[in-house]
Amino acid sequence: MGGHGTPEPMTALGSGPLKGVADVPGDKSISHRSLILGALTVGETRVTGLLEGQDVLDTAKAMEAFGAEVTRVGDGEWSIHGVGTGGFAEPEDVIDCGNSGTGVRLIMGAMATTPITATFTGDASLRTRPMGRITGPLTEFGAASFGRAGGRLPLTIVGTGNPVPVDYTLPVPSAQVKSAVLLAGLNAPGETIVREAEATRDHTERMLRGFGAEVSSEVEKGVRVIRLTGQPELSAQTIAVPRDPSSAAFPVCAALITEGSDVLVPGIGLNPTRAGLYTTLREMGADLTYEKEREEGGEPVADLRARFSPGMMGIEVPPERAASMIDEFPILSVVASFAEGATVMQGVKELRVKESDRIDAMAVGLRANGVAVDETEDTMTVHGLGPKGVPGGGRAEARLDHRIAMSFLCLGMGSERGVSVDDAGPILTSFPIFVPLMERLGASFARDNR
Ligand code: S3P
Repeated sequence: MGGHGTPEPMTALGSGPLKGVADVPGDKSISHRSLILGALTVGETRVTGLLEGQDVLDTAKAMEAFGAEVTRVGDGEWSIHGVGTGGFAEPEDVIDCGNSGTGVRLIMGAMATTPITATFTGDASLRTRPMGRITGPLTEFGAASFGRAGGRLPLTIVGTGNPVPVDYTLPVPSAQVKSAVLLAGLNAPGETIVREAEATRDHTERMLRGFGAEVSSEVEKGVRVIRLTGQPELSAQTIAVPRDPSSAAFPVCAALITEGSDVLVPGIGLNPTRAGLYTTLREMGADLTYEKEREEGGEPVADLRARFSPGMMGIEVPPERAASMIDEFPILSVVASFAEGATVMQGVKELRVKESDRIDAMAVGLRANGVAVDETEDTMTVHGLGPKGVPGGGRAEARLDHRIAMSFLCLGMGSERGVSVDDAGPILTSFPIFVPLMERLGASFARDNR
């Protein structure tokens, strides 16, 4: 499992048509936030549709370590009795966030303006990822941090009992950094301000408002300015987590590249700060429709219908769209392999500091399966081979990265000779039912490596 167990090699064979309904799990970003905001609120917060992947389970465990009562009451149904803003207790042991950058970064923010000390660690992937982007602004609130070289985990945060609010401009487009600052700002008196040049996912702002905090968000001279009034009285909520557009991307994209496919993915969150992939696929000529558009739990939602799309063309994906599809570039690079011509992805250097260096991981694995890829620090270009044009037959490394593993398995489904990944274990972090769900649609996997 996700770097904690023995590798689970898996091969996706070239697939016949994928057909049917794909019920994908709850949104990972919203699931983490539901647990953390519930833990910071006095009273009982009830959550349905929570993603029960390892990343989110690690956050649930962390919230218990900080003093909240977190109980699973049914399938995806959770109850959180929180301790209130500033009420976190000091954990007795190291907090292990496993593979989850979102978990560790948001929790560091949430505890940094409370006078307690906590030490954080994670798996081999998380221990390589930059944390200075979080500890920088937390220091401005008055917290202190002690980590390994480059701000790597394991890392200790000494929270402050006398926080001062900050006015922080994001140096990189990152919803995790924005959220860490806002969560720290919750327990600082006065107004905490975050400025972002590129709009990143806004679930934290939306949910904070839902819990009763005062949060405004305005564009001033092209920059989004988010203002939070500190020390609010939060009130416990009932949250219905929408299904994850980043997980829906896998059955949707597999259908687009597999002959004869027709797949319906119901109830997908289509918050505009998350929907860039779907805009891009439609521009490429994908047969992808939104059905029954509606609002659920404060988020726009629709049923997605995807059919085999032999006429897709490569396009240039503009850099300003990158933040709204940052987790979807690996699977887009798979779809691009089946389009005619080149697909150019720009402004994507943040991919290099995800669960793996996703540009390098995709480039190496695609080349091993017959697809030509060019890369620079900030771009990736995939030279498409057209429908049914990808030979496959190669092996790819997952690098402890769930999205890389799923992307290559989807590549295998559309390919002639299938694709092997060295370890499908990391998929459990975000999409624990990926394999049985894809099998029900018609995909074939072999569990041993070739
Ligand atoms: C997330 C933000 C993004 C994304 C991650 C989830 C979040 O990370 O890649 O999967 O829930 O805030 P960055 O903030 O590093 O861009």
